[in-house]
This record gives sequence, C-alpha cells and structure tokens, in this order.
Amino acid sequence: MPQQGEELTRTAYDTVADLYADTFTSTEPEQPLELAMVDHFVVLLGHRPRVLDAGCGAGRMLPQLAARGCRPEGVDLSPEMVRRARADHPAYPSTVGSLTALDASDGEFDGVFSWYSTIHTPDDHLDRMLSEMVRVLRPGGHLLLAFQVGEGGRDIGPGFAAHGFQVTLNRYHRSVQDVASRLGRLGMPVVARLERDPLGSEGEPQAVVLARRPTG
Ligand SMILES: C[S@@+](CC[C@H](N)C(=O)[O-])C[C@H]1O[C@@H](n2cnc3c(N)ncnc32)[C@H](O)[C@@H]1O
Repeated sequence: MPQQGEELTRTAYDTVADLYADTFTSTEPEQPLELAMVDHFVVLLGHRPRVLDAGCGAGRMLPQLAARGCRPEGVDLSPEMVRRARADHPAYPSTVGSLTALDASDGEFDGVFSWYSTIHTPDDHLDRMLSEMVRVLRPGGHLLLAFQVGEGGRDIGPGFAAHGFQVTLNRYHRSVQDVASRLGRLGMPVVARLERDPLGSEGEPQAVVLARRPTG
C-alpha cells in the first residue's frame, strides 16, 4: 500500500467530487450521537462563533454549523470538492488549502471542525496537521475531530472502483486514546470523547473527540 500523500488525496477527491457531493448532501451518515457532539461543541464556542470547517469537502456540514448559530467557512485540499461546496452552499466561503499550512492567523477562529478530514493523513504527518489546527484557534476555543476507530491503514479505492472511479486512497484508523494523547502533547486537553459501535454498512466504530485550547 503506497503512503498516502496530499497529492494522491487531492487527485482522489478531485476525481470523485461529484459522486461524493451527490451521495452525501447532508447528514446521511451521521447518527444523533455524533450530531449531539456537534451541538455540544457549538454550545462551548459562545455567541455567533467563527468556525473553520477544516477539510470541508463538498460542504455538507457548513449549513449544519450555520443552523447551530456558527459563522462557518470551509477549506479543503481538493479544488473539485471546493467547487461543489461553493456551488451547493454558496452562503458560506470555501477556499482551497491544506490543513498542514492554513492561510489563517494565529488564534483567528473560535472553533475548528475536522469532520473525517484527518483520516487520509498517515500517522507520521498527523501531529503537524493537528498543530496547525490548534494554531488558528483562539485561547479558550475548541477543536472537534471525527474519525474511524481502529489500527493501521486501509485501501478504500475499491469502494470507488465499484462506481467506476480508479483512485488511490488510503484511510488511517486510530484509537480515541491515540488522538487524545497527541492532542494532549499539543497542549489541548480532551474535554469530551465519543466512541460508538459500527451501524449498517460502516466497517469500523466511529469516534468524535472534543479538545479545548487553554486560556492561560
Ligand atoms: C471523507 S472527506 C470528508 C469531507 C467533509 N468533512 C464531510 O464530512 O463531508 C475528507 C476530506 O478531507 C480533505 N482533506 C484530506 N486531507 C486534507 C489536507 N491535508 N488538507 C485539506 N483537506 C484535506 C479531502 O480533500 C476531503 O474532502
């Protein structure tokens, strides 16, 4: 299995952008439990918070954040996913960019929302991505991360081949403890964590981790 780099991830999502955007238009894959974590995250951010949807994809979670009172903006590696985010959700700004080098000032956001956007990043590169998301959070701000639970990488190209798309795309599974430890080392204590068993066609348990940037 080749090590997944940003070029491969960008190419893969550019290739499948319309399939992804047309398949997941809203919260089809989410359970009420995960959405409860989103509710809790937003409550902790204060009034009309600025939230970066980090790895927004085709933007399906932008209106979810807005409906909860946030001022969301999206960033994603894939120009084709951002094209769909802009077309399908024109009320919210979305830009092309990498989570490993965000075009944002230190402390600019009240919240960073990473919904399954760290899952294609190999372990060796994950801390760099997390530290960049922490950098753009204000003290007292919160980071919400969703990901599949497990160990190691999996080639998820065959799932797209079934729809006629040839892409190289690996997904990396992690434990809640691993992600919490990484965040702790970055000075971000975890304040809530969810792990639930797989449902339906999901192959793995799903996790949502909420961490807070200390004020002092
Ligand atoms: C599984 S999709 C999730 C998209 C969206 N958050 C959602 O829930 O529908 C993963 C997204 O993360 C983006 N992504 C992966 N690595 C990234 C990186 N290094 N920088 C920015 N975006 C990245 C991909 O382009 C893709 O759109």
